[in-house]
Amino acid sequence: MLDKIDEAGSNKATFFELLGGVERVRALVERFYDIMDSDPKAATIRALHPQDLTGSREKLFMFLTGWTGGPQLYIERYGHPFLRRRHAPFAIGESERDQWMYCMVKAMQEIGIEEQVMVKLAEALYGVADFMRNQPA
Ligand code: HEM
Repeated sequence: MLDKIDEAGSNKATFFELLGGVERVRALVERFYDIMDSDPKAATIRALHPQDLTGSREKLFMFLTGWTGGPQLYIERYGHPFLRRRHAPFAIGESERDQWMYCMVKAMQEIGIEEQVMVKLAEALYGVADFMRNQPA
């Protein structure tokens, strides 16, 4: 899978393919919010989210499907995500970023994503999470 040739002739499979498609992205996001909702280590970021996480689950699922290289579900429905701007109302510093990554990495481990894929995906998501920071520390 890692050396899969795509139509463009590149030898890079997308994260979407490496994960195994839409159902795996769904499973990852469901697990991510289950952890955020129950693990005290994520309490600060849980408190930033609405009580009912249904909308958050749906939006992150749609966003990550497109962001990993699958169908652009989020953009088709909502247009450009302007992610940094959308996160501006919430105080996000290093600890909030790290809590978000903690939930994501735990979710990846729990659903059994292959180690090699997990490391690369975590690295890429860390870049996005760090970009959301709007607090000095
Ligand atoms: C760095 C720590 C982060 C925190 C504390 C955080 C927190 C939040 C909060 C409070 C919301 C609004 C409630 C909601 O709609 O769920 C939100 C929305 C969202 N977040 Fe994050 N987020 C973080 C990082 C990320 C990252 C790394 C991504 C993408 C890889 C992401 C993707 C989204 C999306 C797609 C939405 C929905 C935007 C919309 O309203 O259409 N977030 N986030």
